[in-house]
Amino acid sequence: MKILNGNEVSKAIKLEIKQKVDALKSAGKKTPHLAAILVGEDGASMTYVAAKERDCTEVGFNSTVLRFGSDISEEKLLEEVEKINQNKDIDGLIVQLPLPKHINEKKITEAISYKKDVDGFHPMNVGMMFKGLRTFLPATPYGIIKLLDHYSIETSGKHCVVIGRSDIVGKPMSALMLQKNCTVTVCHSKTQNLTDFTKNADIIIAALGIPLFLKADMIKEGAVIIDVGITRVADETSKNGFRLKGDVDYENVAPKCSYITPVPGGVGPMTRVGLLLNTLDAIELYQKD
Ligand code: GUN
Repeated sequence: MKILNGNEVSKAIKLEIKQKVDALKSAGKKTPHLAAILVGEDGASMTYVAAKERDCTEVGFNSTVLRFGSDISEEKLLEEVEKINQNKDIDGLIVQLPLPKHINEKKITEAISYKKDVDGFHPMNVGMMFKGLRTFLPATPYGIIKLLDHYSIETSGKHCVVIGRSDIVGKPMSALMLQKNCTVTVCHSKTQNLTDFTKNADIIIAALGIPLFLKADMIKEGAVIIDVGITRVADETSKNGFRLKGDVDYENVAPKCSYITPVPGGVGPMTRVGLLLNTLDAIELYQKD
């Protein structure tokens, strides 16, 4: 069994991004600039946005975080999104989710110009991705593809089972694995006899958000296992009061598979790199000067 080390691979990719940014700067070109909108004080969201800011600094991007109270109106938030759409200095915008209940997330994410939608959530970008056209890819599937590529994992003709059908991970992941010539099965909460599918999978991408869901007796010997789960489980012995748990029963699955991502240190850091790659792509795709 070999570990797919997201920490190591993301570090190498970040170095490549930094070199490209340095080259842009030396050539007098624009420095990539990522903006994030953070509404309210959700602990996980604040942690993610802070991490994104650190990542930007590390690779030499400019970054801006706009913070608003959880009582901001939908109308005001739409205005703020539009201001960034019009701001030529900003290349990419993400609105950190979840948003407070009184705000329609769909309306907000669709208000972001598809040219700055580095989350890849806009219907225009979803459509382009499904057609295999060059565009922003949702960060987690993008990061997973980069990880598989880094380790030269064979995908052509392989049976890939994706567990989960979210707009952010499951659906785009299935499209990208199809583009890598996998035979793809998407399983979800209504799937019957799930083990019949997972037992026949060469590659399993677990993205359902149930800690330790995938057990050793559900996989075949030598499968490649990608664990997208990052559920916070209370744990008083850890300094934050919680530990991140994946969707895979790592301890028992690891000895049986050929490759596996750990949690933490697998898909998580690759997701962060996916966002950086999209922001760099924004310059190539839409900044022509
Ligand atoms: N909240 C959890 N994951 C994401 C993500 O990928 N993008 C945004 N904008 N918010 C999130």
